[in-house]
Amino acid sequence: MRKVKIKVENLVKKFGNRLILKGISFEVYEKEIFVLMGGSGSGKSTTLKHIIGLQKPTSGKIYIDGIDITSLPEDKLIEIRKKMGYLFQEGALFDFLKVWENVGFYYLENTDIKPEEVYKIAKEKLAMVGMAGTEELYPSQLSGGMRKRASLARAIATNPEIVLYDEPTSGLDPVMSAIIDQLILKLRKELGVTSIVVTHDLDSAFSIADRIALIHKGKIYAIGTPEEIKQSDDPIVKQFVNRLPYGPITEELFEVKSEV
Ligand SMILES: Nc1ncnc2c1ncn2[C@@H]1O[C@H](COP(=O)(O)OP(=O)(O)OP(=O)(O)O)[C@@H](O)[C@H]1O
Ligand SMILES: [Mg+2]
Repeated sequence: MRKVKIKVENLVKKFGNRLILKGISFEVYEKEIFVLMGGSGSGKSTTLKHIIGLQKPTSGKIYIDGIDITSLPEDKLIEIRKKMGYLFQEGALFDFLKVWENVGFYYLENTDIKPEEVYKIAKEKLAMVGMAGTEELYPSQLSGGMRKRASLARAIATNPEIVLYDEPTSGLDPVMSAIIDQLILKLRKELGVTSIVVTHDLDSAFSIADRIALIHKGKIYAIGTPEEIKQSDDPIVKQFVNRLPYGPITEELFEVKSEV
């Protein structure tokens, strides 16, 4: 039996009186690359933020290595978070720190490792994402795609067991997207990383995923291997993976009929 690394159980989240997640449940196995897809605003980033403990559920549980993190005190949560790297959708770099300081932020803040050593680690991680030579720049001196990659270098800087990627290839050119896909695969192969990847990039999803899950209307609507998802007869899944402008998703969003 494969070990369950992450388990999301009946996750419900309300923001004010808006019910966003209506009971999300799924498991991610150790070393799995689990892709989470869904329309804009469907709750993908919110789900990731719950898994890393940045948000508390309205109800439901999140288990990391069998430990329920939703009821942990902050100091214990920090311990568990050490195992995890998180690539924020919006990058979230500190503007007042150089690129290398951003990448090495965890070590500079929480350890006694000398800055020269941290610099070396940051340089190595930056090279892995095609960012060699940018160590001394500030985030404002980077392009959008470069900021994304610097954030990715930070997410993997501590050699985490779990990496949560929120749209790792959005805003990147096709070659760089392919390099990031390779990196996600390489981290699994060489370090045994377990990954959840939120993406709208269908090429990327189908090339890296062990399984793909689709969030729709606050629940996991479909889940399966890339082949199963590709061959699904469900009209919503079909519209999503075939990028069709008309179909049940459009009808719900715009209240239009397919023939319009
Ligand atoms: N902190 C918050 N406070 C209030 N509402 C929020 C908050 N975070 C997210 N939401 C709402 O929850 C819903 C889901 O947001 P989320 O960012 O998870 O979507 P998403 O699936 O990641 O979308 P996208 O593909 O556009 O990134 C949205 O309607 C959003 O307005
Ligand atoms: Mg999002």
